[in-house]
Amino acid sequence: MTTPAATNDSSALPTLPTELIELNEAQLNEFASAAETFITRATEGRALQELRVQLTGKKSLLTSWSKQMGKLDSNDKKTYGGWLHQVRSRIQEALTSQQQQLEVAALNAKLETERIDISLPARGGQKGHLHPVTMITQRMQQFFVQAGFNVATGPEVESDYYNFEALNIPSHHPARAMHDTFYFDAHYLLRTHTSPVQIRTMEKSAPPIRIICPGRVYRNDSDQTHSPMFHQLEGLMVTESSTFADLKGLISEFLQAFFGKELTVRFRPSFFPFTEPSAEVDILADNGKWLEVMGCGMVHPQVLTNCGIDADKYTGFAFGMGIERFAMLYYGIDDLRLFFQNDIRFLKQFG
Ligand code: DAH
Repeated sequence: MTTPAATNDSSALPTLPTELIELNEAQLNEFASAAETFITRATEGRALQELRVQLTGKKSLLTSWSKQMGKLDSNDKKTYGGWLHQVRSRIQEALTSQQQQLEVAALNAKLETERIDISLPARGGQKGHLHPVTMITQRMQQFFVQAGFNVATGPEVESDYYNFEALNIPSHHPARAMHDTFYFDAHYLLRTHTSPVQIRTMEKSAPPIRIICPGRVYRNDSDQTHSPMFHQLEGLMVTESSTFADLKGLISEFLQAFFGKELTVRFRPSFFPFTEPSAEVDILADNGKWLEVMGCGMVHPQVLTNCGIDADKYTGFAFGMGIERFAMLYYGIDDLRLFFQNDIRFLKQFG
């Protein structure tokens, strides 16, 4: 590679007579060849432009020779005209081709320096993750889906029939007062539990039934362990032969799978209008205390009847648990409200 200074050194061009008439073809060819060499040595646009002016511009030898054409007789005109045309074409071609090469080289250089490494990780890329309540719901579902349960859903705006009546909770029943219900009017409300999905499912489908229903529920209550909106997961199994022993086995297996360890589980007699018998399920914590984790029982025959299922032929069991409660136990969190404050410092810890 020559330096630009060298490419501008026109002193190395053959020194030719300024008088056209004194020139011969060989000299002109030599001139064209020398010019071509110079042109191919120009390594940048500016140098090439200078060469263009020098070789073909108004003050160039070539232009000056061309201007002398008028003085020639017609024979010479033909001869010199042909030669000059040749020289000019060769120089022009060389200039154009060199210009193109410089452009390609410039583009390549630019591509090289501006090369993007697509394998580099994106700057400041942040990966989000699911909300802890969603992750716990999925963890619960995973067990039951493997056990053959289907996931069912129902509306959050319910009628008092599905939320209470059909579940054997008549209007005068004290259990209704236990629920701090958000009412829209005399008949519509925000469901206070996921149990109405049991009713909707049994109305629609014949046994055998195996479903779980995760979802949002609402109660007018707020403190460290209560939130006006929270999540429950309901379970229901109805067959010709479901027993309390099946319920105990399933729930015990679930709890050990969920917490990933051997657990002492206790079924403590309790009461729910929609199950008979009913029980609360407790697990024995490391500190020796019993922790209540869900309610369950054998589906009350009246509830089966309400849904058009023959209570003499079929039996079922049901269970319902608070998802946030499981999340609190699983992660060791003592304030339920943290789940809903959307404080990124809290949420980040579950990634
Ligand atoms: N629905 C009850 C509640 O919200 C939980 C529950 C208890 C659901 C017993 C059931 C069940 O299906 O059998 O407190």
